[in-house]
Amino acid sequence: VKNLTSLGLRYENGKLLVLDQQLLPHEEKWLCCETPDQMVEIIKALKVRGAPLIGVAAALSLGHYKEQGASEAQLRIAARKLRDSRPTAVNLMTCIDRILSEVSQVTSVAEKIFEEDVELCEHMGLNGEHLINDGDHILTHCNTGGLATAGIGTALGVIRKAHEKGKRIHVYVDETRPLLQGARLTTWELQKLGIPYTLICDNMAASLMKKGKIQKIFLGADRVATNGDFANKIGTYSVAVIASYHKVPFYTVAPYTTIDFECSSGKDIPIEERNASEVKGVAGSFGSVQWAPGNAQACNPSFDVTPCELLTGMVLDKGFFSTQALQKGALLNLK
Ligand code: MRU
Repeated sequence: VKNLTSLGLRYENGKLLVLDQQLLPHEEKWLCCETPDQMVEIIKALKVRGAPLIGVAAALSLGHYKEQGASEAQLRIAARKLRDSRPTAVNLMTCIDRILSEVSQVTSVAEKIFEEDVELCEHMGLNGEHLINDGDHILTHCNTGGLATAGIGTALGVIRKAHEKGKRIHVYVDETRPLLQGARLTTWELQKLGIPYTLICDNMAASLMKKGKIQKIFLGADRVATNGDFANKIGTYSVAVIASYHKVPFYTVAPYTTIDFECSSGKDIPIEERNASEVKGVAGSFGSVQWAPGNAQACNPSFDVTPCELLTGMVLDKGFFSTQALQKGALLNLK
């Protein structure tokens, strides 16, 4: 595998390196991932995360395994475990299936997957940037930037392109409970990029919209059904409902690798259920705190589904799609 570099993932002189996103923003530690089994644990623990990036990371770990001399049978077993490491983001399955369909070419397919993701991000950025006006205040949810993809990101890539064009924008960042991808990761990225932002708790968005402080919403997707419904980080649906009530334009941004052509509606999207301890407290590099009683009942769905009708439109690498176009089946033509 040739040398490849992104914000959260690198292949360097025969080593596969992952920036541990659980330690960000306070510690920037690169983990050396030697085996696919290690990558499975890294993905499950969200040390690498974001729909496109987990697909790319899984692909590179198979490429690395092949270079270590893995047989086709061993690659297939590892691919199965990687495919099962997280259930919602379909990019993971798409990338693994692509590798298995050309199993004799694992390393070059893995490289292609990485490089293609960088390009897809550029296209999404260019296709969405014109939706942002000078002076807009934009709300985003979770992390959709360079830490979630091999390139500049999905929704955050669009925001970045608008900033690079000289538009004076301000980003409101939902903290994104329970794992705080907004508070820990999106803030870290925006700071590096010099884009002005304000961090808010998830429950503050409605009040900001009521006061007219948010002009647009851009966020990502983990799986898009062919009718335009999409799964994204838990809390996305609440943002969509609030946006609809306040008539704030609401966009999702995704590459074609996030569309599940086998899935005709959002109700068919599998939703990851994570450990309740993530809701009862927090754990991080600082140690752990539990604020709820030890025996408290808690549930922890990691994603929710937003129906297409709540969207203003979808930005894909292939272009911009209005809600009406999505409802008429425009995504089916992209297969
Ligand atoms: O659980 P995560 O952090 O992997 O969830 C990530 C998201 O929900 C992102 O919004 C999504 O992957 C789309 S952005 C590339």
